[in-house]
Amino acid sequence: MIYHDIIIVGAGLAGLRAAIEASDLGKDVAVITKVHPLRSHSGAAQGGVNAALANNPDGRDDTPDKHAYDTVKGSDFLADQDAVDVMTNEAPARIYELEHWGCPFSRFKDGTIAQRPFGGAAYPRTCYGTDKTGHFMLHALYQQCVKRNIKFYEEFFVMKLVVEDNQARGVVALNLGTGDIVSFASSSVIFATGGSGRIYGKTTNAHVSTGLGVAIPFWEGVAIKDMEFIQFHPTGIIGKYILMTEGCRGEGGYLLNNAGERFMKNYVSEKIMELAPRDITSRCIQTEINQGRGINGGKYVYLDLRHLGKKKIMERLPGIRDICIDFLGVDPIKQPIPIHPVMHYTMGGIDTNFDGATSVRNFYAAGEAACVSVHGANRLGGNSLLETIVFGRRAGEHAAKNLKAEKEKNTRIAEKAKKEQVKYVEGLFKNGGKENPYEIKKQVSTVMDDKVGIFREETNMKKAVDEIKELRIRYNRDSRPVKSGKIYNYDLLWYLEMKGSIDIAVVIAAGALARKESRGSHSRTDFAKRDDDNWMKHTVAVFNDKAPVITYKPVVVTKYQPVERKY
Ligand code: FUM
Repeated sequence: MIYHDIIIVGAGLAGLRAAIEASDLGKDVAVITKVHPLRSHSGAAQGGVNAALANNPDGRDDTPDKHAYDTVKGSDFLADQDAVDVMTNEAPARIYELEHWGCPFSRFKDGTIAQRPFGGAAYPRTCYGTDKTGHFMLHALYQQCVKRNIKFYEEFFVMKLVVEDNQARGVVALNLGTGDIVSFASSSVIFATGGSGRIYGKTTNAHVSTGLGVAIPFWEGVAIKDMEFIQFHPTGIIGKYILMTEGCRGEGGYLLNNAGERFMKNYVSEKIMELAPRDITSRCIQTEINQGRGINGGKYVYLDLRHLGKKKIMERLPGIRDICIDFLGVDPIKQPIPIHPVMHYTMGGIDTNFDGATSVRNFYAAGEAACVSVHGANRLGGNSLLETIVFGRRAGEHAAKNLKAEKEKNTRIAEKAKKEQVKYVEGLFKNGGKENPYEIKKQVSTVMDDKVGIFREETNMKKAVDEIKELRIRYNRDSRPVKSGKIYNYDLLWYLEMKGSIDIAVVIAAGALARKESRGSHSRTDFAKRDDDNWMKHTVAVFNDKAPVITYKPVVVTKYQPVERKY
């Protein structure tokens, strides 16, 4: 029986930043993570983090307000504008804090933090550490946690959020090393479990980003929001789906079709070109491919960096060069990189306010697992890392300041929940299921790739909903973890992860089918226009075993009335 005032699930940037804040406010904090903190998916973020520092000579008059407007416009007016203001106003302080904590940002010659242009931003405001920004930030925050002696439970896999009387009481986790199921009682729980990318087959996301961290609270009655908005990053390397940072285009990279043409000029203004927001750029690339202008008629175009020259590539984009050489045998200094759009980010997530609070008392969420909502229907590059540190900190602060410790009661409740989980897992192994769960999950991913992708329409999405529901029934009725055994039974872990992925896939597909308009990343060929009269609202889904219950709630509009989005 373990108790901590605040339990944080997930040791990526949002979780670590929440832990630092709650610890600095004097609370007993513990972080539970299924992988070592430095292997969290935040470490894969490459290109940068946005803040209106106005360091770039081309962006001296940048301000948090301008950052807010770009973010709202980028979101296709679905972001909550009060939350966006919080994020952009707090951004500079969070970046300087990281700088003071030793994060090795790249520098301009005058010693200030370097900033590069990113898509959809009117000013070059993306701070970066070469092309390893997430990695550097993760190390800086982890060091701060170590310095504070924050307790980490590594290789513990959270299976359940314990809720009683609409209040979080702790979690139940599987100790991967021993196979024991353990109760963690607490008086506050923060989920910072990352995104749901692995629901799709073709994604830049790490294998751990399965959506289970969204599904676990969902199963306990916590609402999830805007799940149908899935970001496809324009430039994933062909066949491998590894991210080629937007920084490539920020530094001046070109997108070329089979005629060697910079085709973006046919879609957006010549001033914007490759730096349109991601939803638009991905659609342009996909259109080139669909209309037969992919390279050699294939399903890819080129990202060309050759004209940047060796010095700039080595200085600003060394990591992507390494990836290209290692995974493709292509050296971007000499050859163009074959790319296509790839699922990259979930704009939706656990429905929170801008303090990370949810509809369940003392239960918080932050980072990609949460939907505040600052990204609306399309996130701007560089705003995800920012979201983690702004709203991770706020969730930690709010949880700490509102803590009412109930150690004995919550320990009792969490212990009871643990016993139920032990029974549940024992039951799984007794289940005579004949179906291979990996095969079922693979089919779910294929359905999502093929039918709930960049371009969407009614017939395919209806099929997707039906097919996933059928696969869900097969998973629940006829499958079981393939291997028994306790110590490091990753088969059990993946089995449980898949359950989360499948249930969240249902919500994504159902939300997309229901939304009869095109907005941001949700692009319907049968409803090609944005429809503010009927659809300027958030999708809210609540768990129901038969089918998610979907309702809607208004978008918070403060300063910026929706206008047609032109670039
Ligand atoms: O393109 C990138 O470097 C990714 C950044 C992001 O997702 O914000």
